[in-house]
Amino acid sequence: MPGYEVIGKEENAQCEQVLKKSKTLFRMGFDKIRKGIFKVEEFEKNFSKYFGVKYTLGVTSGTAALRVAIASLNLKPGDEIITQAFTFVATAEAIIESNCIPVCANIDETLNLDPEDLKKKINKNTKAVIVVHMLGVPAKIDKIKKICNKNKIVLIEDTAWGCGGKFKNKFLGTIGDIGTYSFDHAKAITTGEGGMVVFKSKKYFKNGKAWHDHGHENNPKYPRWADTRKSSGFNFRMNELQGAIGLAQLKKLNFIVRSQRKNYYSIWKKIKNIKGIEERSYSSKCFISADALIVLVKSKKVALKCRKYLLRNNISTKILPEAYTWHFAGRWSHMSQFKKNNIKKTLKKSEELLKRAVSIPIFVKMNSGKILKIKKSLQKALT
Ligand SMILES: Cc1ncc(COP(=O)(O)O)c(C=O)c1O
Repeated sequence: MPGYEVIGKEENAQCEQVLKKSKTLFRMGFDKIRKGIFKVEEFEKNFSKYFGVKYTLGVTSGTAALRVAIASLNLKPGDEIITQAFTFVATAEAIIESNCIPVCANIDETLNLDPEDLKKKINKNTKAVIVVHMLGVPAKIDKIKKICNKNKIVLIEDTAWGCGGKFKNKFLGTIGDIGTYSFDHAKAITTGEGGMVVFKSKKYFKNGKAWHDHGHENNPKYPRWADTRKSSGFNFRMNELQGAIGLAQLKKLNFIVRSQRKNYYSIWKKIKNIKGIEERSYSSKCFISADALIVLVKSKKVALKCRKYLLRNNISTKILPEAYTWHFAGRWSHMSQFKKNNIKKTLKKSEELLKRAVSIPIFVKMNSGKILKIKKSLQKALT
């Protein structure tokens, strides 16, 4: 979660160009004023280059990115989209806002979508799957992609967490049909609020781009006020300051992920021999972005005890166990779509895993004293 940790003169310089030189905060138009400065466009181009994708669209948040991704598919009300039991409510909210039905499949030992449960949830109404690489560990994306291809279902990767992570040397978010990213304050790179959508298909890209801008096609033959449109849409346009900060942050992504991984493995090396601790599972094909280190302990009681001792040493936990209710579909009875399906019963396997999970946040800057404190807290909790 360290994008904010490395904000410095580069972000300042980028913002200064916007505020002092272009004086244009809107991502398009105003050509006579802006002196050729288009920060959002440049951020999209650099993002495309870094991630090796063709079509990239900056938006206002990771939630907006999901909503735009779904809008680009032109689904019908009542179409079903499968996602996983462990994710932030935003994933489900984007499905509901799109007038589609959210279906939650169980997670497996990776704490991401279980391919076997996914197979069971697919039916003739299933039009898309949103797999989430939760907290920096890739899902079994090769298996999931195969299942989606076989059933002709669109695969969206929610890469809010996992930006810079890879599976078989391919960046997360670029393996399925569409990838979404979040740049909120807690993410690997941040623009305060912000997000990105990457598309493989030109058709989906064009749909999504128009939809995120009230349906504007940005037809070069017409001024904006007389622009052509084929569908309605909404406003999820990224602004120039977000684009400027994104440009500076993207240059730091490699360093951020490298530092996170170094800290992750230093912590794991120190705690792996503590009895009663098991690391969250991932295969050797994964290059984790290491946003958090999740360990599984014996029971919910022990997980809460770990949190208590970590807090005592001024070490926070991240999402698990404290914000479990926001991130586990079995607890979303505040949304009628989840209440009515009595979903908790079908997600027992997920709950069993999540309730005994403890997530340690990973930062870019973690000194050996802090790492030792993590070890001591867990040792105390588990003995
Ligand atoms: C898995 C997941 N998807 C989507 C989002 C939404 O991102 P944002 O906060 O940028 O709207 C989040 C936010 O934390 C998330 O964790």
